[in-house]
Amino acid sequence: MNDTKNSIYKNYSNFSDKVNRKDMENFIKSYLKSLGFSYNQLAKKDPTPDDAENTCKDKNELMRRLINEIGDCKRCELYKTRTNLVFGVGNPCADIMFIGEAPGEEEDLKGEPFVGRAGRLLDKILESIGLSRKDNVYISNVLKSRPPENKIINHMSSIDACLPFLLKQIDIIKPKLIVCLGTISAHSLLKIKDPITKIRGRFFRYNDIKVITTYHPSYLLRNPIAKKEVWEDFKKIKEMLNRLREVENV
Ligand code: URA
Repeated sequence: MNDTKNSIYKNYSNFSDKVNRKDMENFIKSYLKSLGFSYNQLAKKDPTPDDAENTCKDKNELMRRLINEIGDCKRCELYKTRTNLVFGVGNPCADIMFIGEAPGEEEDLKGEPFVGRAGRLLDKILESIGLSRKDNVYISNVLKSRPPENKIINHMSSIDACLPFLLKQIDIIKPKLIVCLGTISAHSLLKIKDPITKIRGRFFRYNDIKVITTYHPSYLLRNPIAKKEVWEDFKKIKEMLNRLREVENV
């Protein structure tokens, strides 16, 4: 029993730096599991395949409505120079979401995030942990329109206009885990200002959702030496996602 207690405590203290409602719920689920009970059975709420399908249908529908709402957006001056608005790609029912900074040239031409060199690298990294943009992730950016010459730093005020749409995307998807790619993504979502060297690889929260930041794939293209740290971050991402999926199924 002592071993069980220790392992529960270890799991719990690894799992959370600060107690919040979601962590407490997950802790209780793990505890019940260790005693051989199922939270869903006790709560009489075993999800059926139909439930999952309905929730997924709802998310697809809500995302379609959000695309309608953003429309041919003119909420900041970037509409004047963009070719296509780049809303997002992937599965709105995914349990993990990746957030980049802003579309680059190729993304602007295609209307899809992360399709250039950095995107191809991201796809490879995703594949290495069993994820794919077609099936089980959702990818978007803080800005939905390309800043001229990719100089997002000259268009920080556009973030105020665009961020509400990212937050609505998150609210529809309700992912278990968010991965911020790069400083601007992390700062915009978490409302912090720490340098990326200080925050990468650490878990934060946005509402009840775990958030981790890693280097942006474009940075990796310029500094391949940082791949080692990104690999460490992605190992954590995979472990945390497995853990969150496990507690959901208890
Ligand atoms: N960089 C980003 O942050 N997002 C993209 O979609 C492409 C490159």
